[in-house]
Amino acid sequence: MKPESNKIPVQKKTLRELFIYSLNLFKNWGIPNCRREIELILCDALRISPSKLYLSFSDNLPEPLVEKILEQIGLRLQRVPLAYITGRVFFWNLELDICPGVFIPRPETERLVEETLLILNNKVKEQEVFNIIEIGTGSGAICCALATAFENVYIRATEINPRAIEIANRNIEKFNLQDKINIFQGNIFQPLQKLALQDTVDIVVANLPYIRSGDIETLQPEVRDHEPLEALDGGPDGLTYQKKVIRQAIGFLRRKGTILLEIGYDQGKEMLDFTHDLDKYIDLIILKDYSNIDRVFKATLK
Ligand SMILES: C[S@@+](CC[C@H](N)C(=O)[O-])C[C@H]1O[C@@H](n2cnc3c(N)ncnc32)[C@H](O)[C@@H]1O
Repeated sequence: MKPESNKIPVQKKTLRELFIYSLNLFKNWGIPNCRREIELILCDALRISPSKLYLSFSDNLPEPLVEKILEQIGLRLQRVPLAYITGRVFFWNLELDICPGVFIPRPETERLVEETLLILNNKVKEQEVFNIIEIGTGSGAICCALATAFENVYIRATEINPRAIEIANRNIEKFNLQDKINIFQGNIFQPLQKLALQDTVDIVVANLPYIRSGDIETLQPEVRDHEPLEALDGGPDGLTYQKKVIRQAIGFLRRKGTILLEIGYDQGKEMLDFTHDLDKYIDLIILKDYSNIDRVFKATLK
């Protein structure tokens, strides 16, 4: 049986009734972290903080609001990701806009941001503005995090998905970063070819698809059925895009420029072997995330 929001009784009127009713539904349908998810849906709909939620438990809610909440509960039962339902996602210290059809930024990608900032902070005195290229910006999570955390950057980002570009530009505007970030539509570095950036770029950073095509079917339904395939599928070995970026970045990075790429937990060795064979980079390293899992590939152009 597929859950349908219009089968949920609207007569649940107090917040407590709605909460308990939704919690039971989520438990029965096996939604992970169900209590937390319902809290977030209710807080978002009522525009209140989690601490206020329980204090408002005996409040009666107007019918249109109950209907809206029940509709959102119904969507979640159909495994639509919470971020698509609320239209918001937290990344770094930013509340980003998000919408269906655009990859939802993950907390583990903050490791990529953190390492990039470390490099920038170490070189802060060396030059006035640092040139960064981000490939596959999605919602703009990485470039917005970098540009809010570090003053002297100019970031050019590319992305193939027009919907993602719309959301990224909305986020750039939201944080007033229009002077520091420019998004270009197109494949990997292609839209940047005409900008004469050869040998001028300090950092190339990217979180591109790295799931093996054969593993897509095994993903959680939230990801597999709702997030865009072009944001997930990394080809037969999962590293199709990463290898292209490592090769093509050689033409853009200045000497001693750095490349940082997010990778899957078991892809470190393949990345090191591939890059070593190119003989163009030094200081190849795989960095772990906070769960002690291989997460970021880093290398410096010779
Ligand atoms: C895993 S998502 C990451 C998005 C964002 N960087 C983040 O961390 O939230 C990968 C992104 O790369 C984009 N992408 C896939 N292939 C691309 C290509 N050939 N050129 C540019 N962008 C691409 C996808 O549309 C998607 O937005």
